[in-house]
Amino acid sequence: MFTPYYRPRRLRRNENIRRMVRETQLSVNDLIFPMFVTEGKQIKNPINSMPGNYQFSIDLLVEEVKEVQKLGVPAIILFGIPEHKDDRGSDATSDDGIIQRAVRAIKDGVPEMYVITDICFCEYTDHGHCGAIIDGDVDNDSTLKMLGEQAITHARAGADMVAPSGMMDGMVGAIREALDDNGFEKIPIMSYAAKYSSAFYGPFRDAAESAPQFGDRRAYQMDPANAREALYEVDLDVEEGADIIMVKPALAYLDIICRVKERIDLPVAAYNVSGEFSMVKAAAKMGWIDEKKIALEMLTSIKRAGADLILTYFAKDAARWLKETE
Ligand code: PBG
Repeated sequence: MFTPYYRPRRLRRNENIRRMVRETQLSVNDLIFPMFVTEGKQIKNPINSMPGNYQFSIDLLVEEVKEVQKLGVPAIILFGIPEHKDDRGSDATSDDGIIQRAVRAIKDGVPEMYVITDICFCEYTDHGHCGAIIDGDVDNDSTLKMLGEQAITHARAGADMVAPSGMMDGMVGAIREALDDNGFEKIPIMSYAAKYSSAFYGPFRDAAESAPQFGDRRAYQMDPANAREALYEVDLDVEEGADIIMVKPALAYLDIICRVKERIDLPVAAYNVSGEFSMVKAAAKMGWIDEKKIALEMLTSIKRAGADLILTYFAKDAARWLKETE
């Protein structure tokens, strides 16, 4: 009979020693809560496919941001659903657009909250693509100009950070230049650098009413089969001046998070996207899994893989759960 000499179980015998040797600590400081804002007053539309998430009108959004702030979550990322959509997504670049007004209202009502804005056009265009369409294709370079304009209006409204998500070539450089030329050199850019063309965004497209009306996004978002290409995308964004690099989605892409973390010295963010959230919610509702344990295990795994920051619809719940275990 073989008697082991090395016994790793010695450090797992009780909760104290497990706490002492735990390598990864999930913290409320790591969390960014995504929120959706819509036109109107006193509106709180439940998003059916994402239980516990809502489209808020600006007045109620500010109240909700106060709650998020009370829970200790340091940051939110905002997505807007405008009243009018057109082929150039003009609400996105207007100082009076839904996001610009929402940012001003939040900065007025909850100035301590760190406000990040998503920079993209899919929620604002009538065709639902992430930029200007020319000859049936999203035109890269005219979209860059629009992205710069959008970022300036967000910064002018008081956004603390901008996060381009459209996967246009050169988007980070174009936005950095536009911000700097307009006196916003202090505003950081968190780039969705490796954003995959993923079926995990399904529930979000309901929430943000941003599904493409023709075709799909595979001509600009990345092929899920590619890993080295993600590193190339990351290198380009670092070179163009990104301050934080994001990988999205998170759970099916933990290998990418890990490789990006090993490669660069900037903070790495990961987006625990809508589909990842909704699958947990659905299974929990069926009574098949323990929601809290699963969610905390997933978030810890994303952090263990290398994410410093996690964008997650679980942020409010996780903040509560982490307090319980303190
Ligand atoms: C694009 C954007 C998307 C998400 C964040 N920003 C959707 C898309 O690319 O179709 C998805 C987030 C999620 O699924 O939670 N503006």
